[in-house]
Amino acid sequence: MARPKIALIGGGQIGGVLAQLCALRELGDVVLFDIVEGLPQGKCLDIAEASPVDGFDVELRGTNDYKDIEGANVVIVTAGLPRKPGMSRDDLIEVNSKIMRQVSEGIKQYAPDSFVIVISNPLDAMVTLCQRITGFPYNRVIGQAGVLDSARFASFIAWELGVSVKDVTAMTLGGHGDDMVPLVRYASVNGIPVMELLEKKYKDKAKAKEVMEAMVKRTRGAGGEVVALLKTGSAFYSPASSALAMAESILKDQKRVLPTCAFLDGEFGVKGYYVGVPCVLGANGIEQIIEFELDAEEQAMMDKSVAAVKGLVDTLKD
Ligand code: APR
Repeated sequence: MARPKIALIGGGQIGGVLAQLCALRELGDVVLFDIVEGLPQGKCLDIAEASPVDGFDVELRGTNDYKDIEGANVVIVTAGLPRKPGMSRDDLIEVNSKIMRQVSEGIKQYAPDSFVIVISNPLDAMVTLCQRITGFPYNRVIGQAGVLDSARFASFIAWELGVSVKDVTAMTLGGHGDDMVPLVRYASVNGIPVMELLEKKYKDKAKAKEVMEAMVKRTRGAGGEVVALLKTGSAFYSPASSALAMAESILKDQKRVLPTCAFLDGEFGVKGYYVGVPCVLGANGIEQIIEFELDAEEQAMMDKSVAAVKGLVDTLKD
């Protein structure tokens, strides 16, 4: 049986890490596309020459021709500019919209049956544009943001409590911006509420609340924290790992429940917009959107985040 084919559009920082991760995990053959001549070819050759050392049997091909993505099962889009210090993700909308339009046309023409995972920012707007231009059904065009935002939240909790990240469950909802909604009430260590553990640690409810609020704030600004340190671009290892988890769940029909930027049709009180919510990802892409009750405070935060997404998406011209 032929190996799955994974097309990566954008061969920059995230694209390069994605190609290497796909190879190391033998997830499928990789086509890395970029408009810069030599860049994707060079990266693929470099990764492929490590195959005898790492022991993987997949093909890697760099290209500047969309034709080479033909037959791709999954397409992951990272084409577009990353932000620099002082910029918000929303500042990228004008330049990245132009890029996303070209990319979406290429995907529509050459990989019409693919599942598309968008990473380019501003995420909620870029995935909206990609779906509109490809015209693919909503279950096949999704965005990666929540897996990463949730992983950041989980990392901070694990570090604070001195426990393994493997035992922390944490999730964020909403848009991929400063108003995202880290769900404090559902954050747990093997099912034990994190707030309970913080109260035990500090023997003080107010202090526990303060520590949690600091972690929520850090989660919301975590992308910017990396940008400020790197100075030349934005995070790339963690976004690549996060998108790969989504691609793997689809390719292997794992049906993992992952926070996904998905098109909502009334769920969580949102109609007609892409927003981050938990979804079952399997062989049919989004197979279920998992809706659950938010309390009044969570719903208010969700509404604020959705309002920010709407404000940005509504600026997109047709
Ligand atoms: N078609 C294809 N690729 C393009 C196009 C285009 N029209 N325009 C630019 N690119 C390529 C660039 O040549 C570059 O190699 O997109 C790549 C982007 O790579 P980086 O600049 O290294 O950015 P990266 O860190 O990978 O982030 C990509 O993901 O998280 C988001 O905010 C981030 O929007 C950014 C995107």
